[in-house]
Amino acid sequence: MKALILSGGKGTRLRPLTYTGAKQLVPVANKPILWYGIEGIVAAGITEIGIVISPETGGEVRDRTGSGDRFGAKITYIRQDAPLGLAHAVKISQDFLGDSPFILFLGDNLIENELGSFLDRFEKKQLDALILLRPVENPSAFGVAKVDDAGRVLGLVEKPKDPPSNLALVGIYYFSAKIHEAIAKIEPSARGELEITDAIQKLIDLGQPVESEQIEGWWLDTGKKDDLLSANQIVLDAQVATDLNGELDEATKIDGRVRIGAGTTVKNSLIRGPVAIGENCRIENCFIGPYSSIADGVTLLDTDIEHSVILRDASIAGIQQRIVDSLIGQRAKLGEALPRPKALRFMVGDDCQIELV
Ligand code: G1P
Repeated sequence: MKALILSGGKGTRLRPLTYTGAKQLVPVANKPILWYGIEGIVAAGITEIGIVISPETGGEVRDRTGSGDRFGAKITYIRQDAPLGLAHAVKISQDFLGDSPFILFLGDNLIENELGSFLDRFEKKQLDALILLRPVENPSAFGVAKVDDAGRVLGLVEKPKDPPSNLALVGIYYFSAKIHEAIAKIEPSARGELEITDAIQKLIDLGQPVESEQIEGWWLDTGKKDDLLSANQIVLDAQVATDLNGELDEATKIDGRVRIGAGTTVKNSLIRGPVAIGENCRIENCFIGPYSSIADGVTLLDTDIEHSVILRDASIAGIQQRIVDSLIGQRAKLGEALPRPKALRFMVGDDCQIELV
């Protein structure tokens, strides 16, 4: 069994962060989203992993993620020159996949369930495809499946205007090598992409066994700001244990589960968990409320913040209102620690959003 993780795409829904970086490297609880997928795959006993990257962000994905040693895996990077669809990504990965069965994993998806439990069913029943489904309120935004009572898949359609059910395809699929034959038989869709949903439909049309499993745990497709904040909240809740490194002065109070990295200094602040703070941060006179993730090298002075994600080397100082539900990019600089600022002065990048709520 191998795994193929897709880590290309333009990440348009996470602009402006994705102008300069891959969406799969945006952190959740201070760890790139992509790495949760890799860890989940390794936990299921799969160590041969291919990662499909794009020319724009592939270098960064490869530099940050490396050869796989840190995960106990062997990672092969496969370049997809243009975003021509999920099935196209599988097609160009045939040399890596050979005739092995594999898990196809979309690199911006996070699920609570363990991948191994579904793998057992896929292998025991000798399926050609096992798809994961979850009921959603807006099926038109996803691939949608129609299934019978036994979980056999009757049909699939990508982002339908008129959805045949409320069961969305989670971006995690188990395939036998038969999927390559199906991909060879499909044509690009109206949006010019080779769709994996069409390839799975082709397997069904050819009479191959395709089944589904409805997942009960949470599933997050982190391609948008609010989904990313929800993912951050859920993962902080589930995974943060108190671990205080760095230097905390006596005026600082820690409440609940808080993780603080080495080299960080905290003065005169209240931190109420679950909160994850990286290494080499400087935090003074702050309130940091639940569900905040502060990456390495961040400076927070006279700042009041909660339910937010702050990326590396950003700095925030002296903003008078509480900052909530926010996603702040790398090296962004907000405010100066003046005692009573009288005006706001901005230099805001393309596609940024500033809301006064
Ligand atoms: C892709 C798939 C879709 C699936 C979704 C899950 O859509 O095409 O079938 O439901 O991932 O995340 P995309 O996120 O690329 O729009």
